[in-house]
Amino acid sequence: MVKQVKIFDTTLRDGEQSPGCSMNIEEKVEVAKQLERLQVDVMEAGFAIASPGDFKSIEEISKAVKNCTIASLARALEKDIDAAYNSLKHAESPRIHTFLATSPVHMKYKLRMTPEEVLERTAAMVAYAKKYLSNIEFSAEDATRSEREFLARVVETAINAGATVVNIPDTVGYTTPQEMYDLINYLRNTVPNIDKADISVHCHDDLGMAVANSLAAVKAGATQVEGTINGLGERAGNAALEEVVMAINTRKEFYNVTTGVETTEIYKTSRLIYNIIGATAPMNKAIVGANAFAHESGIHQHGVLAEKTTYEIMTPESVGLKTNNMVLGKHSGRHAFEDRLKDLGYEFEREELNKYFERFKKLCDKKKTVTDHDLLAIVTDSLVNKGGVYVLERFEVNSGNKKSASCIVALKDDEDNVVEEVAMGDGPIDAAYNAIDKIVKVSGHKLENYSIHSVGDGRDALGEVVVRVKYGDKVFVGRGLSTDILESSLLAYINGINKIMEVG
Ligand code: KIV
Ligand code: ZN
Repeated sequence: MVKQVKIFDTTLRDGEQSPGCSMNIEEKVEVAKQLERLQVDVMEAGFAIASPGDFKSIEEISKAVKNCTIASLARALEKDIDAAYNSLKHAESPRIHTFLATSPVHMKYKLRMTPEEVLERTAAMVAYAKKYLSNIEFSAEDATRSEREFLARVVETAINAGATVVNIPDTVGYTTPQEMYDLINYLRNTVPNIDKADISVHCHDDLGMAVANSLAAVKAGATQVEGTINGLGERAGNAALEEVVMAINTRKEFYNVTTGVETTEIYKTSRLIYNIIGATAPMNKAIVGANAFAHESGIHQHGVLAEKTTYEIMTPESVGLKTNNMVLGKHSGRHAFEDRLKDLGYEFEREELNKYFERFKKLCDKKKTVTDHDLLAIVTDSLVNKGGVYVLERFEVNSGNKKSASCIVALKDDEDNVVEEVAMGDGPIDAAYNAIDKIVKVSGHKLENYSIHSVGDGRDALGEVVVRVKYGDKVFVGRGLSTDILESSLLAYINGINKIMEVG
């Protein structure tokens, strides 16, 4: 029988801890629910001891997700393991994931521990975690730069102490596919109790080989792969899970394994996460980039028209991309709208559906045709943009190339007070943002970045604005969506300010 490789997603931990990728608790829960629909086997919800916010989000995710193992990260320290365990109290299937470095450079300079001390700590902390839970993962941090014989002893010790998964991370993205294959092979043939645990790999992408290294490990017999959606993560990121999964899927005969992932949820998951962190996929990114399934050259187009498999090794439908970009318009009824959303993978309760239908109808007044791209944009915008203290009431801009811009903005707060201000600026957006700054009860924030892109084609396309607003040492991402780019600019900034207000 073909074996199933487990997929361990760490978007919410390793992905989220990288600069510019932070998410609030609501956003993390939204991502976690989508990862559950994607059917990953394990999701690492956070690093419990890192902050109260991390702890809380692991707790909330544990309550919201029931069909997936939830992992909580801990250094090999009692206080970390206590926090990890406490954060998982509501999880249906909890896992403590504890780690300790095993490479000479980490042991000497970071841990200041001898190899014997590392072995002792491994045994003691895995056993400590095991008193709490049966499902324990142990990671030998910087495994690929560790001495093989020592690594084998650590792995054996961890399994003897009760680890059910042993993870071999390429923490600094240093190894190569051939080396990774040899290392997993070596461990499988050397560690006497290796059959008692899953062998996992966790590769970083510093040399652009994270996916290749993960797949080489699978070929050598690894039974779990860790990574993130869109390859987010520290420095150059982690192995992109969508690539690992589609490689295993497309090259089944070669790898002779499968995954339990529902691949048709890949595109949606990728998009949701990009939306939350305020980024978009590079055009040519494998699997999820806009051009991943586009055929531009005449020769390729001709080939694909004659026989798809000439240039297509997997179908766009297999990752959840709809090719029949069906169009709705103002005469489309609620049923057609609901059916289209179902086709795109979204089913909502009546009340929520009505909200989306109203938004769709408003869009129809401004746009002749509404495509799947527009619908996906509306839904993901509503999922990540849940309102807040301030709502835009109205705005009025005056600008031209021979005079300074000015803008009147009126915002309603959560106590229904409407406040109006006017401000000048270096262009209409600057003027609008100055007016907003006069109204809101936040100060010391700074707009760090502003970007805009169109959803779909045409002059009436929706404009999606993403802003990054710095407040203290944190960066808050705001998003806005409208056919009027000034309106999307205001909505994005207000969304950023609302997120600042949420954390105080
Ligand atoms: O990269 C790494 O080594 C890690 C461990 C904590 C698994 O993220
Ligand atoms: Zn990592």
